[in-house]
Amino acid sequence: MGVAVDLEREIAELKRSMNAVILAHYYQESEVQDVADFVGDSLALAQAAATTRADVIVFCGVHFMAETAKILNPGKQVLLPDLKAGCSLSDRCPPAAFQAFKAQHPDAFVVSYVNSSAAVKAMSDVICTSSNAVKIVNRIPKDRRILFAPDQHLGRHVMKETGRDMVLWPGSCIVHEIFSEKKLVQLKVEHPDARVVAHPECEQAVLRHADFIGSTKAILDHVVTSPAEKFIVVTEAGILHQMKKGAPHKTFIPAPPDNGCACNECPYMRLNTLEKLYRCMKDRTPELVLPLDLQGAALAPLTRMLEWSR
Ligand code: 13P
Ligand code: SF4
Repeated sequence: MGVAVDLEREIAELKRSMNAVILAHYYQESEVQDVADFVGDSLALAQAAATTRADVIVFCGVHFMAETAKILNPGKQVLLPDLKAGCSLSDRCPPAAFQAFKAQHPDAFVVSYVNSSAAVKAMSDVICTSSNAVKIVNRIPKDRRILFAPDQHLGRHVMKETGRDMVLWPGSCIVHEIFSEKKLVQLKVEHPDARVVAHPECEQAVLRHADFIGSTKAILDHVVTSPAEKFIVVTEAGILHQMKKGAPHKTFIPAPPDNGCACNECPYMRLNTLEKLYRCMKDRTPELVLPLDLQGAALAPLTRMLEWSR
């Protein structure tokens, strides 16, 4: 970049001059989280996007999250530092295949996890996130058959919590499906005083060892308020940054994946860096753009989610 640039200062200055808000997910690298105006889980970020008064939304997260912000704010510019920051769950549910799946169950009520493309959202009756999925499913009349996509593990967790039967799309997240049950059990033996906190995108074999299951925000709140002092954290390691800030005296042990690494990072989330964030604000690109008809069609199920989450 030639002369060294104070990225944090430049970003703060650009934010002021553009009247921008920086929204970041907990899985972003810590220096990106630290320059954000708001750090949250998928639901909180969608709610923040729905109510912001800023002219420009700079989204430090993955593509479907920036899409959600755009659908809720068709008149605003939405920037994403790296447009290639996708999501394996969303990619594993192509719209044409989803349409065929839906056609097999024409009378069903369709619930899609927010980790899906705008096209899949547009074919859904309501959207959910990991923090409101149980609440959303409980709102659906008992006599309706439910289709749930694209995360089968979250779907199974919701079925258990609500007692509802659902037809599940067989999708999963490459980050959460590779936690090792064997290594988790070993860690529990080494740290018998630790509580296990896990994200519902993990497989049942892993979730059955958890003391607490919840969205990133729910897990964070739990570790901060719980009287326990030590936690084994079974989700993406970026969340540890806010955990250490919220409870600096506590011990957090990231659960290892089944691939030789010590902790688990989402390769898509980590495509965004502080430097890319600076450049995208300075150049006002890459910008997230969506066809207007798709934006319009995906708005109703998203708005229903926000209403049902109140
Ligand atoms: P949360 O809504 O819990 O933040 O989850 C987002 C996500 O992508 C999990 O992999
Ligand atoms: Fe998608 Fe998994 Fe990354 Fe979340 S952690 S953004 S579900 S690939």
